[in-house]
Amino acid sequence: MAASGDSVLVVGGGQAAAQLVVSLRLGGHEGRITLVGDEDEPPYQRPPLSKQYLAGELGRERLLLRKAAYYESRDVELRLGRRVLSIDRAGHCAVLDGGEQLGYDRLVLATGSILRRLDVPGADLPGIHYLRSLADADRLQEELGAGRRVVVVGGGYIGLEVAATAAKAGADVAVLEAEERVMSRVLSAPLAEWLTDLHRQSGVHVRVGEQVRGFTGQERVEAVETGNGPLPADAVLVGIGVLPAADLARECGLGENDGILTDEYCRTEDESVLAAGDCARTINTALGAAVRLESVQNAVDHGQVAASVILGDPRPYSSIPWFWSDQFHVKLQIAGLARPEDETVLRGDPSAGAFAAFRLREGRLTAVEAVSSPRDFMMGKKLIAARAAPDPARLMDESVALTDLIQSRHGIPTLHGPDP
Ligand code: NAI
Repeated sequence: MAASGDSVLVVGGGQAAAQLVVSLRLGGHEGRITLVGDEDEPPYQRPPLSKQYLAGELGRERLLLRKAAYYESRDVELRLGRRVLSIDRAGHCAVLDGGEQLGYDRLVLATGSILRRLDVPGADLPGIHYLRSLADADRLQEELGAGRRVVVVGGGYIGLEVAATAAKAGADVAVLEAEERVMSRVLSAPLAEWLTDLHRQSGVHVRVGEQVRGFTGQERVEAVETGNGPLPADAVLVGIGVLPAADLARECGLGENDGILTDEYCRTEDESVLAAGDCARTINTALGAAVRLESVQNAVDHGQVAASVILGDPRPYSSIPWFWSDQFHVKLQIAGLARPEDETVLRGDPSAGAFAAFRLREGRLTAVEAVSSPRDFMMGKKLIAARAAPDPARLMDESVALTDLIQSRHGIPTLHGPDP
């Protein structure tokens, strides 16, 4: 294949970058592959950082997606602890910190996300943590323990997972969420309320509609200043979302709008440059829309799509998005993308601890949010892929099998049908 001799430069060392490299070598790519990542470890899994790794239940070496020897044996050059500072697209080269220049035939931007930071007085006090990297998790781990007063700012994925881990470790945990409910970016109101109850029953103090005004303390953080007065804290974790790491792309003139713009093949407007993972806003043909997602699945899909392009056998990005979260004994699984205004239909009994919320827009299923209910999740995902428009009354009725619902509200099959 003509493309297989191209030299590939990957910027970023996360899940998308690792998948790309593995897929390239598996696909027979013979050209040079160089991966530049600003963290010190080879690509690793991030999901356990707020869960099993933070709890001390999973060793460091188990996080690695591939051991260092893998890259060596596949002739993949890892430049770790290094940053790409700029890209010269006309000259097909990237400049690293220290001034070194690396040429490329194909450049893959897999730069991931950057943390949103809280800009309030006292925000730089020691004891205030963020969680994105393994190094962040190591620092945070030292702060958790029985009797410690831990305040979590942000009731999203990171905040609630860390809250659960810290509470299980015996810490006295409070979650301060700015919106009127937790996980409002991704969850329906009934699910968010159910999850809030779960945390409260497990001893976590969840406060919604709460604005953090600042932090106070002498040597380190001692209190969080809220609209309702100060809240004592031995440690703070801030998890208020992320932004796409698109600076490099912007600075070299590539199109960007809350993510580096690509087509369904992860190709930017420059045919030599691809973008993959959290940093990319990519057309998903299964959804018929350009989306930027922050998930493992998205990173893996993009890594494979970008590799297929470089290997000369392009496959479009076409999958129903899915996400998961583990909090206490509960597994939360979400498929599809809902908007806040989408209708919500519950199936199963929330008080039994296993149920699902189905989301509908103009009659069509847009998402399923399942609590410890993998069957509803899997079937919901299939129904979304089939563009089903199920009758809400039957969706609610557990005596009706979900497989029987791949038909419209009006009984007209809509399998793979185009939008009306
Ligand atoms: P997030 O977007 O999931 O949640 C951020 C939360 O912070 C939201 O509920 C938001 O309303 C709240 N917030 C924003 N500003 C605030 C403020 N000033 N005060 C209080 N609350 C505020 O982002 P999160 O949890 O930081 O996660 C970061 C990234 O990590 C995301 O990409 C997420 O998808 C990923 N992640 C995914 C996990 C999973 O899929 N299980 C687990 C952990 C992280």
